[in-house]
Amino acid sequence: MASHGIEIRNLYKIFGPRGRDYVESVKAGMTKAELNEKHGHVLGLKDISISMPAGGITVVMGLSGSGKSTLIRHINRLIEPTIGEVVYDGTDICRMNEKDLREFRRHKTAMVFQKFALLPHRTVIENTVYGLDIQGVPRAESTRRGRYWIERVGLSGFENHYPNQLSGGMQQRVGLARALTNDADILLMDEAYSALDPLIRVDMQTVLLDLQAELKKTVVFITHDLDEALRLGDKIAILRDGKVIQQGTGQEIVLSPADDYITAFVKEVNRGRVIQARTVMRPFDGIMDGVRLAANATLETAAKQITEAGQSRAIVADENGAPVGLLDLPTIIAAMVTPASHSAEKMAAE
Ligand SMILES: Nc1ncnc2c1ncn2[C@@H]1O[C@H](COP(=O)(O)OP(=O)(O)OP(=O)(O)O)[C@@H](O)[C@H]1O
Ligand SMILES: [Mg+2]
Repeated sequence: MASHGIEIRNLYKIFGPRGRDYVESVKAGMTKAELNEKHGHVLGLKDISISMPAGGITVVMGLSGSGKSTLIRHINRLIEPTIGEVVYDGTDICRMNEKDLREFRRHKTAMVFQKFALLPHRTVIENTVYGLDIQGVPRAESTRRGRYWIERVGLSGFENHYPNQLSGGMQQRVGLARALTNDADILLMDEAYSALDPLIRVDMQTVLLDLQAELKKTVVFITHDLDEALRLGDKIAILRDGKVIQQGTGQEIVLSPADDYITAFVKEVNRGRVIQARTVMRPFDGIMDGVRLAANATLETAAKQITEAGQSRAIVADENGAPVGLLDLPTIIAAMVTPASHSAEKMAAE
């Protein structure tokens, strides 16, 4: 099943009985606070346009109340937009009739929740096949599919356990198995990992990345955590007060933060895990001396490979193995410790 991307276009959500009446005022610049004070309506989302790539993970970040859940719930239309479009595979989800919407929700989307949302009286396998039960899929078939995904998330042997017999991380694996068993193209994960202990959380990120490398679903992943966003996101959108204040790759955001708020946010990031070789490499000098390094390798990986090879420089190669640049250890160290204004300029020029 080929994945499709999700195009969110000029989406506004104003909570309250007469939301539509205030769209023009909001467009004209009325703030969330003013809208609330003067009219008792809540600005949920303001003019959101995000292109969520097919088969990629789009991370939505932002502080509490910035509109992340409101946004993700528009994708399966648990929330009706005030105006705007959410286009998937050529269709605006916001305009689907009830029957199409039901089909879309059932077959194209799956959600993974922070609180796991497992049914306490159902076993792991019964929870996993719950969606298929609702669709009327025969038990033999649903059990076969359910068992496969339970194994893939690393829970074999726990099929007949109940949720309260499992740790938080294991419960979240069940949540993921349940979502995957539905075989939906779109995976919606609203703070799915936020309740987990840090180490378990990193494990679960790995589970998702490993599965995603093979499944290539269109994933929308909400988090408060920048490290998680940078690790998972092919693309990251940062919201504040219902608006997108920056969107791009993790590298773009770390190298050229759009404002002081994001600058403060990305200051503590381990740049070596985000910045890629191609961003800071120097021109190739024609001397074929040094280890080969992929252009999209992170600086951390680059430093490791160069050091392990007992050398001080590497040849950066494109996907076809052709040399495109040079990278040496001093350059790597400089880029890891200094805000790379030079790199940012370079990226802007690309
Ligand atoms: N049904 C609703 N009615 C009125 N206001 C709402 C409703 N749902 C959300 N809001 C408001 O919309 C804004 C965005 O809320 P939302 O839940 O999307 O934020 P969030 O980024 O998911 O926050 P959190 O990180 O706490 O989950 C908030 O100001 C919230 O109070
Ligand atoms: Mg939320």
